Amino acid sequence: MLAILPHFEIKLGDFRGSIVNSSLQFPNRVTNKINIAIDGYSSCGKSTLAKAIAKNLNYIYIDSGAMYRAVTYYALEHGYIQNKGEIDENMLVESLHLILIQFKYNSDSQEIETFLNGTCVDKEIRSMQVSAHVSAISAIKEVREKLVRIQQRMAENGGVVMDGRDIGTVVLPNAELKVFMTADVEVRAQRRFLQLKNNAVDISIDDVRDNIAQRDLLDTTRAADPLRRASDAVILDNSNLTEEEQFSFLMVQAKKAIDMKTLV
Ligand code: DC
Repeated sequence: MLAILPHFEIKLGDFRGSIVNSSLQFPNRVTNKINIAIDGYSSCGKSTLAKAIAKNLNYIYIDSGAMYRAVTYYALEHGYIQNKGEIDENMLVESLHLILIQFKYNSDSQEIETFLNGTCVDKEIRSMQVSAHVSAISAIKEVREKLVRIQQRMAENGGVVMDGRDIGTVVLPNAELKVFMTADVEVRAQRRFLQLKNNAVDISIDDVRDNIAQRDLLDTTRAADPLRRASDAVILDNSNLTEEEQFSFLMVQAKKAIDMKTLV
């Protein structure tokens, strides 16, 4: 059974009252659970690996990228992103308190779904339109400040596997295990292209590659919390690794980190 939050809520504007569901109280969580931070480039397979590790360790998986995507979708829906890509930052920042993001566990699909103001937006937030703008939205300082605080709160009791771009450097700098994932851009484009095709998205490989390259550039060069490897992060280049190989590699690292924590 996946050990993930069955249901919790995040209200961006009201942090103190933001995580409202009692399911966050995890009665069986023990203090020797570590936090695992997984950062890396777009379409590296971070979430697939993070989910598998969380499932195996009975930890909670948190997809921080889904939160930035949900804010981006909200901005698109409210016209805060113009056709040419200009963002009305003031309007978006003023509206942050109106954005309610929830992660809910779907016991049928055994997946966590992302809800925005009560509506499941799991499919919408993975669209190319959202992908095209999410890096720009995630570069807005106020958006990051809100989401980072919420993410830190979610992990404060340990037992979390969180993936993103700044998890090891900013969100959880004290995570007991940090991983930095990378892969050749062509390999990433092929994998993402196949995923989109499987979801019946009509797109060319060139567009997928361009989007990935563009996001890499924006994510690594933005002023606020750019993507970079934490100095103590383990590097995982999965260009030529299967999912099983990546999983085995990381489980070894995780078990070492858990043993260390148990010894302390
Ligand atoms: O992991 P993803 O591709 O779903 O993330 C979407 C975007 O969100 C990514 O281009 C950068 C941003 N992001 C971020 O800035 N910080 C995070 N912790 C996670 C994602």
